[in-house]
Amino acid sequence: MARQFFVGGNFKMNGSVDGIKKIIGHLNDAKLDPNTEVVIAPPALYLLLAREHLKPGLEVAAQNVFDKPNGAFTGEISVDQLKDSNITWTLLGHSERRVVLQEDDQFVASKTKAALDGGIGVIFCCGESLEQRESNKTIDVVTSQLKAVKDKISDWSKIVIAYEPIWAIGTGKVASKEQAQEVHAAIRSWLKTEVSEKAAEETRIIYGGSVSENNCKDLSKQPDIDGFLVGGASLKPAFVDIINSHL
Ligand code: G3H
Repeated sequence: MARQFFVGGNFKMNGSVDGIKKIIGHLNDAKLDPNTEVVIAPPALYLLLAREHLKPGLEVAAQNVFDKPNGAFTGEISVDQLKDSNITWTLLGHSERRVVLQEDDQFVASKTKAALDGGIGVIFCCGESLEQRESNKTIDVVTSQLKAVKDKISDWSKIVIAYEPIWAIGTGKVASKEQAQEVHAAIRSWLKTEVSEKAAEETRIIYGGSVSENNCKDLSKQPDIDGFLVGGASLKPAFVDIINSHL
């Protein structure tokens, strides 16, 4: 079964009511590849605004979700609250949360389990630092981030894996198509041996890190690159070109 191309836009902590309405208006009016699944992830404060204005067929993701049910957890958002608001996806394990907020593999895996158990799709981010790449630890780092998830879940059908080398995020220094393809292929082979042949064949593995309208075409042609998680460029009109990169 062919894997459907998937493009996510991670707005990070950017945007305003007017700015987000403008981005959404642009997406709603654009001619988008009907075969590409599109999900945008605005800051939590704007999730409902995004869902209200974005046309049906395009989905909205949270940038994070907590692993406990509703209760006394100040500042957090629950899986039930996302569902109640018609937010169907969440990002988890973004390196900015792993590094800045010190989220470890176990916590990210626990949140992944909570989201999947509640029926929310997960864009699971993994990736190595420059230092780890230079000491040949890329595959070990990525597969140990994935193993923490594997130890907690069995159904991979609602996970999209986003490979995001930290050194490529927001730096303008995109991974070459060979570098990205090599890690994507290694992740797929890990899925095959550690999870199942089905998970290896069907799980979308998307690339994130300085994706732009100029480099997306070449990357999209790689056999194991099934889409993108886009940061900076998702705030710009060029996001449409990235969504359409597979045409
Ligand atoms: O989640 C998105 C990634 O962190 C990539 O961000 O496209 O601004 O490099 P970037």
